[in-house]
Amino acid sequence: MCGIVGYTGRKESAPILIAGLKALEYRGYDSAGLAVEEKDGIKIVKSVGKVSALKSEVSNYTLHGTTGIAHTRWATHGKPSTINSHPHSDCLGEIAVVHNGIIENYQALKDELIKKGHTFKSETDTEVIAHLLEEKLKSVNSDYENEFLKAAAEVTKMLEGSYALGLLWKKAPNMIIGSRVKSPLVCGAGENENFLGSDVSAFNQWTRNAIYLDDYDIVVLKENEIKIYDRQLHEKYYNIIELEQGLEQSGKNGYEHYMLKEINEQPFTVRSTIEAVLKDINTAFGITKDELKNIKNILMIGCGTAYHATMVAKYWVEEFCNIPCQAEYASEYKYRKAAMPDETLAVFVSQSGETADTVSALEKARAAGFKTLSICNVFGSTLARMSDHTFYTKCGSEISVASTKAFTAQLAALFSLSVLIAESAGSISTEKKGRLLNELAKLPVAIETAVSEDGSISKLAEKYYKEKTFVFLGRNVNYPIALEGALKLKEITYLQAEGFPAGEIKHGPIALINTDMPVISIMPADSLYDKMVNACEEVMARGAKAIAVTDEKGYKLLENRVEDVIVLPNVEEYLFPFISVIALQLFAYRIAKLNNREIDQPRNLAKSVTVE
Ligand code: M6R
Repeated sequence: MCGIVGYTGRKESAPILIAGLKALEYRGYDSAGLAVEEKDGIKIVKSVGKVSALKSEVSNYTLHGTTGIAHTRWATHGKPSTINSHPHSDCLGEIAVVHNGIIENYQALKDELIKKGHTFKSETDTEVIAHLLEEKLKSVNSDYENEFLKAAAEVTKMLEGSYALGLLWKKAPNMIIGSRVKSPLVCGAGENENFLGSDVSAFNQWTRNAIYLDDYDIVVLKENEIKIYDRQLHEKYYNIIELEQGLEQSGKNGYEHYMLKEINEQPFTVRSTIEAVLKDINTAFGITKDELKNIKNILMIGCGTAYHATMVAKYWVEEFCNIPCQAEYASEYKYRKAAMPDETLAVFVSQSGETADTVSALEKARAAGFKTLSICNVFGSTLARMSDHTFYTKCGSEISVASTKAFTAQLAALFSLSVLIAESAGSISTEKKGRLLNELAKLPVAIETAVSEDGSISKLAEKYYKEKTFVFLGRNVNYPIALEGALKLKEITYLQAEGFPAGEIKHGPIALINTDMPVISIMPADSLYDKMVNACEEVMARGAKAIAVTDEKGYKLLENRVEDVIVLPNVEEYLFPFISVIALQLFAYRIAKLNNREIDQPRNLAKSVTVE
């Protein structure tokens, strides 16, 4: 949420900052801005809307300067507007601040600053940082660089909440200060140039050497120097990590949207993730079979789509392992007085590894002494660095705000983990483990077939895209897929979409049903197929148009009893979520396209939610 870029070196900074912002645009896109250090002071240019709007605004100026910071915003305090967009400045216009996070005590700080005579221009929490720095620096007449660093350390100690910051001061030119608490910030070490970014995509087109900052770190970047300090300003040793090739954003590859490209990548991303596990499943998750043997409880945590992956995994764990497993929303778990039983394995699932709620939930689990394992897609992310163990899904960058390929890769990892735990706990034989993993390994072929249903799903979308409300039903492992289908549809179409466990509709949701409402039921020919047929009958009796997402066997059994059918290949019943979700991703995509929505960057959302 909000993207930060910083550059200091020998090149003109503005084009580099804009390219960095473009790569970070998935983090927020309601407004953007940059600050460039020119010879006579800091020049700030901002605009409402996407980075392309900032780029055209910048073309009205002749900006010259080899040091600058920039920001793409997802509004928290203050509506999207030019005034509220970053960078923010002090009363004298000598300081520039970009910020990702929320300063929770900003109102008290602001009141104090106003009493001291400061004038605020924006409604943001961020602006207090610029004025606090101004207060600290107002009587400094020498040793500007050092004083700027000291002021940054003092100001950050006054802030409550979360922040990643990029700071410039006119009197300490060619130098950027960065700092972070609970919001990600990474440095890029180049040759005669250094970078700051919310993540490595801000700079990985220029350097592949990254330095991940820890909470409370303060970094000073100059053309030929990166120094990192702790809160007491003791210099810290740091590691430079060489970024893997090939995981960066590679464009849309001919697809109209990243979402469609990412849906189509799933046969490969699921295969790569399965291969990464099956190379040696006993070591893939970093946690040993001996450790797993003693696990008595499993806690699975995530947000949004990642949470739906944990819900599916709960069914698998309890089916194969006979160990209690809870799937929890991170945002609920972190503030709830939860039971904290011994011998718990806490599994955190996140594409970005930066979701603030999930990171806080991990902190809580660590404090309780749980073993922690993260399943993330982004190398070096906060969750990965904080967990005892990490497994990386093999998706490459997921750019579309609506998560697709990360979900199926998370499922692949979680299914394998469930099987490994089951074997370690003695609940399944080695032979059964082999059989289950063998079924998993065959999935990419079925996924390919599911993706190839795009043509028939497009036709269905043409029939239904003008509807205003959609209901999704499923049972067992397909219930979370009903929720995921509804989430996908509402995210990118802005239409009302609700997912329910099919058995629950008679307890209330059936009141929603009215004539011609599309009700999408995920119903392979499994042990609950007849129950799902009953649910279809119940909604059809009330005038709904039933759409079945089923397998070939289920299709034969249906005998034209429903309005429409999406037919997917037969797979083992516990694996159907892998392919049913693809049909629902395509359905949401096609409906959004017919409604002319901003598919990759839907309104009000951001890819990585790094604030509470
Ligand atoms: O990066 P994460 O997987 O932790 O993100 C969690 C959710 O914010 C994310 O899945 C969100 O719900 C997506 N936009 C869903 O498509």
